[in-house]
Amino acid sequence: MSARGQFSSRLGFIIAAAGSAVGLGNIWGFPTQVASNGGAAFVLVYLLLTFVLAYPILMAELTIGRYAQSNMANALQKISPTSLGKIVGKTAGLWGLAVVSLILSFYAIVAGWMIAHCLQAITEIIGWHQASQWLIEFSITRNLIFCILFSLLTISIVCRGVSDGIERWSTRLMPMLLILIVSLILYVSSLEGASAGWEAYLVPDFSKILTPDLLISAMGQAFFSLSLGVGTMLIYGSYINKKENIVLLGASVALVDIGIAILAGMLIIPAMYVALHNGVTIFTDAGELIDGDRLIFTVIPQLFQAMGVAGNYVSLVFFVLMTIAALTSSISMLEVPVAFTIENSKLNRYKASWLIGSIIMLLSSTLIFNFEHLFGFVISLTTQYSQPLLGLVLCIYAGWVWRRNSILEELKQGCPEIESSFFWKIWPNYVRIVCPIIIIVMFYQTTFA
Ligand code: PFF
Repeated sequence: MSARGQFSSRLGFIIAAAGSAVGLGNIWGFPTQVASNGGAAFVLVYLLLTFVLAYPILMAELTIGRYAQSNMANALQKISPTSLGKIVGKTAGLWGLAVVSLILSFYAIVAGWMIAHCLQAITEIIGWHQASQWLIEFSITRNLIFCILFSLLTISIVCRGVSDGIERWSTRLMPMLLILIVSLILYVSSLEGASAGWEAYLVPDFSKILTPDLLISAMGQAFFSLSLGVGTMLIYGSYINKKENIVLLGASVALVDIGIAILAGMLIIPAMYVALHNGVTIFTDAGELIDGDRLIFTVIPQLFQAMGVAGNYVSLVFFVLMTIAALTSSISMLEVPVAFTIENSKLNRYKASWLIGSIIMLLSSTLIFNFEHLFGFVISLTTQYSQPLLGLVLCIYAGWVWRRNSILEELKQGCPEIESSFFWKIWPNYVRIVCPIIIIVMFYQTTFA
């Protein structure tokens, strides 16, 4: 078995984990949810949920991962004293592995569309209108080609390992992402119509707050956005040096994730209102803001079109931004099954990455060929149901199964004074009781109410 990889520095870990967290969920999911769920009211609920629910679970994943120095299936086995706990733990770990592979299989399709839209902007700039039309039209061939291209990019990074692949590429790509998003915000804000968007974003509509729909959307968004439940953060945690204070590292990752989501809102929502100003329809017949794929692939491109020649360049920048965001997340997803394979078989990282990557490409192809039946189904199966339930399992393992003394010992490494900290006074009982209750109540609401 090969030696375990490790992040080379504290900042390297923060950037890689933030890269995992910051993805299509932030730049696409968050702004559209804000727009249709009461603007700043949603942002407030989201902030609250991130700190009271998602951050404690993130800490559970990071701590279990660093203690066990292994993937989720082996880690949950390791922290259970009983054989029943070991069996359930292993099963949950394998379930997480299956879920993250399925998430990657649809994520790669969507990310492929982003690459196609980058190329579309380029073909428009050089005047190849036919190619440009093909690139934005929904077809099996286009979907396959770009999904495979994106998957190959993901595999070629993961096969290089933790510090030479994942960390190196995250530290290259994340600053670019920040620069692109800030430049786009400045540009879009200078256009006419943007101020109405700022208003829609910043003025809270409290009538929507605390409706079950809003709470459930915010919870799903928080889980997806922080990459929780499926063992991604757990495996990244296993690559953190024992000298590091993981309480602070986890908080930094959560803050960067929220920060980028809020920035993305400052881009997308004003952009929608600029589009409205330019005559683009942004509301559905029912008066709701258009969201989901129609927003990204219809409304936003129509806005770029309305900008004339400059629009092609802005479009290129926007879809490069989306592609980067997707790539730093997809590498973290692929790492989960790859790490599991390396730790439980004789395959080396290179072979494991290509093997698992190919299997996931096959899964993606199945989705592409059965798009109508499978695509939406897999998304809700994984993100709406599995991620919160797996989060619940992690809370139970961190709160009830794992002995509190071992947790304390683990956290003390890198933070000797933890025992007297505010974190230690609150967190153990919190993941034990409060988080499970919140998840169960919310889950009940989504599924049965
Ligand atoms: N956090 C990513 C996003 O917001 O787009 C999605 C994600 C990454 C989900 C990694 C799950 C995961 F394991």
